[in-house]
Amino acid sequence: MSRRALITGITGQDGSYLAELLLSKGYKVHGLVRRVAMEDPGNRLKRIAQILDRIQLHAGSVESFPSIHKVLRETEPEECYHLAAQSFVSYSFDDEFSTLQTNINGTHHVLAALKDIVPGCRFYFAGSSEMFGKAVEIPQTEKTRFHPRSAYGISKVAGFDLTRNYREAYGLFACSGILFNHESPRRGYEFVTRKISSGIARILAGQDNKLALGNLQARRDWGHAAEYVEAMWRMLQQDSADDYVIATGETHSVREFVEAAFEYAGLDYQKYVIKDAQFYRPAEVDLLVGNAAKARTQLGWHPRTGFESLVQEMVESDCRERGVDVRQTIRAGT
Ligand code: GDD
Repeated sequence: MSRRALITGITGQDGSYLAELLLSKGYKVHGLVRRVAMEDPGNRLKRIAQILDRIQLHAGSVESFPSIHKVLRETEPEECYHLAAQSFVSYSFDDEFSTLQTNINGTHHVLAALKDIVPGCRFYFAGSSEMFGKAVEIPQTEKTRFHPRSAYGISKVAGFDLTRNYREAYGLFACSGILFNHESPRRGYEFVTRKISSGIARILAGQDNKLALGNLQARRDWGHAAEYVEAMWRMLQQDSADDYVIATGETHSVREFVEAAFEYAGLDYQKYVIKDAQFYRPAEVDLLVGNAAKARTQLGWHPRTGFESLVQEMVESDCRERGVDVRQTIRAGT
């Protein structure tokens, strides 16, 4: 019989890649989806459109304990990947209350319901390098002290601690992945990498001539999302539950991403990029770079896609979506 997995946040970038990975391994995949998303499939289910006939969606929300309870009773998963969250750091400054409420309660609801209904189910929590925030050491490892700089980061530290405590207090097989930034053509448009790649596509398509950005000095460790979901799965296949940093070990500034992306498209970024104060954050995370040695030795996981390839894949994909052949524009020297 095939193994059963439940994914919260299945409609997002990571959820969609993870669902595809689990299907390829023969899992029966269930996804928790807000009712509003089910009513607007063209828009909100677009990342999973290609697998909709092979997965089972359940209407519910991590904010509602009864709805989690119900879905867990119906599906009795053997693995649960909890990815659902308010994941845009910038928004967490605009509405700290809803970010803390959704992210902390959401994780608590899932853990508490699992303990009641399927205590043998293996649990993955989507932790984040934002937990390191004002990082106290370089590179960051599983042992680096947390110093979150946003309500989002604080909510992830709380989720990490809840996960650890359910492991220690109730014996749940509960793991946290401390994932550094991971991108792809499925990234949401509000995140800086996708904002840049889609901005370039609009410029090349003649639909725009400026790209407004905030802090270009911040440095991030950017990997490919499709590879990072593989690490999530590997964590739940171990003999015991643990927490792992998942990162490339390379750090680049936002400016370097901008330069690489515009250069690939044959454009001089200085003609298009403007600074806009609204995209600066009240507290910034200046430098993130992870050391994924533990994941490499214990999970056999390592990143494959380099920085330049990631940038190019995203630019190419966005250009294709707008009917622009970026390789042709490079040849033509636009
Ligand atoms: N979004 C955005 N938009 N960010 C900008 C902009 C802009 O116009 N201009 C500069 N930045 C800078 C931000 O200030 C930040 O330093 C960096 O670009 C990356 O921002 P995001 O792409 O929004 O990602 P993030 O690093 O804040 O958070 C992402 O990674 C985390 C893992 O470390 C999100 O995916 C989180 O959910 C995730 O946990």
